[in-house]
Amino acid sequence: MKKIIERYVELPRAIRKPMWRIWHWLIRKVDANGATTFLNYGYAGKSGEFDHLILEGEYEYHRYAIQLYCHTTRNHRFPGTHVLEVGCGRGGGAAFLAQTFKPSSYIGLDINSGTTAFCNRRHKVEGLRFITGDAENLPFANNLFDAVVNVESARCYPDIMRFFEEVFRVLKPGGKFLFADMIKPDDLEEMELRLASTGFKFQDKKDIRLNVLAALQSDSKNRKAEIDSKVPAFLRSSFYEFAGVEGSNRFNIFKSGEMGYWTFTLLKK
Ligand SMILES: C[S@@+](CC[C@H](N)C(=O)[O-])C[C@H]1O[C@@H](n2cnc3c(N)ncnc32)[C@H](O)[C@@H]1O
Repeated sequence: MKKIIERYVELPRAIRKPMWRIWHWLIRKVDANGATTFLNYGYAGKSGEFDHLILEGEYEYHRYAIQLYCHTTRNHRFPGTHVLEVGCGRGGGAAFLAQTFKPSSYIGLDINSGTTAFCNRRHKVEGLRFITGDAENLPFANNLFDAVVNVESARCYPDIMRFFEEVFRVLKPGGKFLFADMIKPDDLEEMELRLASTGFKFQDKKDIRLNVLAALQSDSKNRKAEIDSKVPAFLRSSFYEFAGVEGSNRFNIFKSGEMGYWTFTLLKK
């Protein structure tokens, strides 16, 4: 299991979607109180970058994961806009953005129906709802959204080009694709070519590998403690890997630079 988690973005295409079904089911089993609402590696800002971000209650516990969402969406002004998030996971980012920045509507979409059902029960925010769907076949008409958010999800889609085309299709002209993911340095050029050939113009792009690594370093103790308190011993090493705790293969490949992490703001002109 640990090996599968280590390599999940390189798994054969046919088993990527079933793998998420099993993984979400396991998370629902171990997270009985519904406290796990983020599934990303987080972002630690430069000194002072997030001093303005006052977080209350459970949001402070999820600070790094929230900062990744704030960083990814930094070039979008939410009020009055219609936003779609693809691969919303357990909905923490969607709930935080919808509650804090008050778009007119925010839809979180994920491939796993158990997870979107959890999200609809767990996150009650005006204008926010969650639906089940596939990133490669978005269940929406053309030109509908002002922004599409995608955090740490696209790498596991079997056909990422199809996903980019779908995002382009559902965005309004002038809409923004706010995209964050791990990318191997050798794959960056191809990823950018694919985005450009879909029709997107690059508005902003940042290498955030060291910010993600710093977040994991600062958050490892919390992540490990949460896993130790919830997960049966025989599954813990798989969860450490998924969570990228210090010492895991995932942590080490960020540290060595074998794996990078980038955010992009892309425009549909
Ligand atoms: C690493 S999690 C990130 C979740 C969330 N963005 C966050 O930051 O907490 C990746 C998510 O992508 C979802 N996903 C994977 N393949 C998908 C697909 N083809 N369509 C929609 N969602 C997908 C998974 O179910 C999972 O919830």
